[in-house]
Amino acid sequence: MRLRRGAGIEIKTPEEFARMREAGLVVCRTLKALADAVRPGITTAELDAIAAREIEGAGAVPSFLGYFGYPATICTSVNEQIVHGIPDPEQRLRSGDIISIDCGAVLDGWHGDAALSVGIGEVSAEDQALLDACAAALWHGIAQARPGNHLGDISHAVERSVIASGGRYGIVREYTGHGIGSAMHMEPTVPNFGAPGRGPRLRAGMALAIEPMITLGGEQTVELADGWTVVTADASRAAHFEHTVAITPDGPWVLTAEDGAVLPLSDPGSDSDAE
Ligand code: MF3
Ligand code: CO
Repeated sequence: MRLRRGAGIEIKTPEEFARMREAGLVVCRTLKALADAVRPGITTAELDAIAAREIEGAGAVPSFLGYFGYPATICTSVNEQIVHGIPDPEQRLRSGDIISIDCGAVLDGWHGDAALSVGIGEVSAEDQALLDACAAALWHGIAQARPGNHLGDISHAVERSVIASGGRYGIVREYTGHGIGSAMHMEPTVPNFGAPGRGPRLRAGMALAIEPMITLGGEQTVELADGWTVVTADASRAAHFEHTVAITPDGPWVLTAEDGAVLPLSDPGSDSDAE
């Protein structure tokens, strides 16, 4: 019903993007509060409570809570957990852990969805490099989210960035980004690998959640018996970053980032930072 043509991909008006921005800012501020709160000794359930307070205080609704029966406000995925970890009062963070926090909110019917990964206390250089490579891959993907490009240009840029980081990271293939707008998960799926110039052409009015997930080891995943938590099959540590991105005539508008802008980036394939 809300769907206007665009190869089955929902097209938003500028007014609708403005409303998605409000939802995106709720998610942005919630993740900021969580990133400030993480420290050795805090439990993931305490983080969940902070998120619930932030989202409800903004007059929004957590989109994960109750989604296919999901029991919490945020997903907290620690160390070898990749995504969809369930906050737990028994799970206390320790120095040296890494955590991915994924948050979604709906405001006036419009969705925002974002995730970030951070280290707790003192993290190893190897883990920090994993986090940095995943964040860089997200931003390289975002930079391709402009009218006239193809979906594959985003996927390819993410993949190329991960490879160019030199860390020999695994790129998770079984989970992807997604279209977003009047629902959290919409067409199209947004893989974190692929060929440039392939897939649907990107048009102004589309919105995508781009979300690379990479590991210090292999690409295989296992879902735990809780029916949610996804871990690496080889128990290697994983990182996950996500933003909700609006495709505008002027290029990407990062709806879940504080300033909404794309950071200046060097070509991930070049060895020069001068641009
Ligand atoms: N935010 C996740 C995604 O990026 C979805 C989490 S769904 C939940 O697609 F039910 F686990 F919360
Ligand atoms: Co998402």
